[in-house]
Amino acid sequence: MSLPVYLYGHPVLRRISTQVTPEYKDLKELVRKMFDTMYESEGVGLAAPQIGLNDRIVVIDADPVAESFPECAGRKLTLINPEIEILDGDGVTRTEECLSLPGLSENVNRVEHIRLRWVDDDFQQHEEEISGFLARIVQHECDHLEGKLYIDHISPIRKQLIKNKLRNIVSGKTRVDYPVRYAPKK
Ligand code: NI
Repeated sequence: MSLPVYLYGHPVLRRISTQVTPEYKDLKELVRKMFDTMYESEGVGLAAPQIGLNDRIVVIDADPVAESFPECAGRKLTLINPEIEILDGDGVTRTEECLSLPGLSENVNRVEHIRLRWVDDDFQQHEEEISGFLARIVQHECDHLEGKLYIDHISPIRKQLIKNKLRNIVSGKTRVDYPVRYAPKK
């Protein structure tokens, strides 16, 4: 069962998410629904704020982009309370998209070498050095947990150029072929 994806303009995408505890109710079922939602909308990552929950939960399945980015092959991750440590100061610029920003893609500069610490949905601890496009996906998704979107990383000029597209998402004029929830009317 998939859930609607909350779109740009909805306040839930701008809040800082809270830590998940082992008492969290029906966590595995929620993770399953998040994967379903991500596959339905053909994304490679989804963070809980995108389904309207301000909890520190991220799902990733980067395998669909493995042809371009071999480090993504077979990488399916459930990240609860993820923490990123930047290992390399040099940024790389690549195009990003987001299910909450349909119809947009922009160049974003990010480091592509990080150390990631997280627990899985059994609350087992993990730590791994991650590189390349997978590190980018992880940073993009973890940004969501801080109320940040990739467009926060682009230049004021680019932001000005996409202003109308952003307005169309907020007002519901953008065509989206997966279930979505628009920002509440002001
Ligand atoms: Ni996103």
